[in-house]
Amino acid sequence: MIELLHVKKSFDDGASFAVADTSLSIARGELLALIGESGSGKTTTLKMINRLEDPSDGKILVAGRDVLDQNPQELRRNIGYVFQGVGLFPHHSVARNVAAVPELLGWSRIDIEARCREVCDLVGLPFDDYAQRIPSELSGGQQQRVGVARALAARPDVLLMDEPFGALDPITRAGLQEEFRRIQQELGLTVVMVTHDMTEAMLMADRVAVMLGGELLQVGTASELLNRPAHPYVTQLMEMPRRRAERLDALMREEG
Ligand SMILES: Nc1ncnc2c1ncn2[C@@H]1O[C@H](COP(=O)(O)OP(=O)(O)OP(=O)(O)O)[C@@H](O)[C@H]1O
Ligand SMILES: [Mg+2]
Repeated sequence: MIELLHVKKSFDDGASFAVADTSLSIARGELLALIGESGSGKTTTLKMINRLEDPSDGKILVAGRDVLDQNPQELRRNIGYVFQGVGLFPHHSVARNVAAVPELLGWSRIDIEARCREVCDLVGLPFDDYAQRIPSELSGGQQQRVGVARALAARPDVLLMDEPFGALDPITRAGLQEEFRRIQQELGLTVVMVTHDMTEAMLMADRVAVMLGGELLQVGTASELLNRPAHPYVTQLMEMPRRRAERLDALMREEG
């Protein structure tokens, strides 16, 4: 569904690369988690898929078509995007934020309102309670849900999500992760989700892609990454959830 072929991105005419020679293919209906430290090129990789950035070199195909051959607006109709740090229109109500893409596409008022209700309910923000609020009247986690609802509104086949659950408390976060995964599988959505959290990546994704300093180090299932890490950084990342679980376990024993 999404194919990156030797993609590179430099912001300084080739002096350095935010994304170095990256090839990656994401199947229809797959959820791929993109993980790596700050500045490793995750957001840049995501933005090249819907042409918020154009690659310096290489080729990107979505549904078999070169993205550079497509009008960016047209391309984005079919690709929902959840921005890092939410990125809602601050002076527009939840309803108008969610309606943004369907409005651009010229849907009828009735269809838009019905769809807004549907996606707000889907992400756990009952429409009648939240539709008329503006983003500053919502908690950070609620704003993130609006971001997800907005990205889903126009029924895209592809969803790009940049740390969509970052601002949520752990219990809400776990709930929404499960809920989102269910929705994603039900709709057969193809998703690339950036995260800092290996536990989230392992629990939600079909495969995990690990980036470091613009390089794609490894792509695989959680068990492939655990059992055959291709780089010391992958080993380190994979040990994190286990170490935390062990530490918690030890603490509980001391208490008990
Ligand atoms: N528009 C830009 N102009 C110049 N440099 C940029 C631009 N966008 C990103 N970069 C640089 O490219 C590199 C990768 O940035 P990117 O935003 O992709 O990182 P990231 O992995 O998403 O990090 P984080 O986890 O902090 O969001 C960084 O060194 C960043 O400073
Ligand atoms: Mg980023």
